[in-house]
Amino acid sequence: MQDVKIHDKVFTVMIEAKQINERIKTLADSINIEYKDKKPLFLGVLNGAFLFAADLFKEINIECEISFVKVSSYSGTESSGAVKNLIGISHSIKDRHVIVLEDIVDTGDTARYIIEELKRHETASIKFATLLFKPKALKHNFKPDYSCFEIDPAFVVGFGLDYDGLGRNLNDIYVLK
Ligand code: IMP
Ligand code: MG
Repeated sequence: MQDVKIHDKVFTVMIEAKQINERIKTLADSINIEYKDKKPLFLGVLNGAFLFAADLFKEINIECEISFVKVSSYSGTESSGAVKNLIGISHSIKDRHVIVLEDIVDTGDTARYIIEELKRHETASIKFATLLFKPKALKHNFKPDYSCFEIDPAFVVGFGLDYDGLGRNLNDIYVLK
């Protein structure tokens, strides 16, 4: 597979679409078992998690709902660390089994913030599922309940993840060369 140039940087393939699809299917299989009769509410984190959320959701065969929230915290290739706001919790999440769907956990700032916000709504339970997890970049005592891939702390794009707006439409996941 060929390298891609996005803005000023060159990226090379790290995880192929086929592998991504397989891991998502495996995650869906465990959720289908674990959440049977719990009518989980998936909360996809926009923008990055929209493809992950869609592909996972298609493999869920139990009664479930999906909604989306948005946080803004990132610009360029380094986390700004300053998380701003969680918007879009219009759905009543009280007494619901919530599964947050995120594209990537880097420092863990965003994940921790989202969970703190959700905890104020008296949910029945909250679990955190991420497509990618960079354990070595983590600054908090946080571990996602489910992660499809653990990766080294390099900047990645594709499958929903962007570099300054571009690259989300790549079917594979690419890493900065
Ligand atoms: P954290 O708050 O540092 O964990 O960063 C989480 C957010 O930063 C994610 O939701 C992504 O939007 C963004 N992010 C972190 N690492 C990357 C990356 O390697 N590529 C693209 N976006 C990233
Ligand atoms: Mg994100």
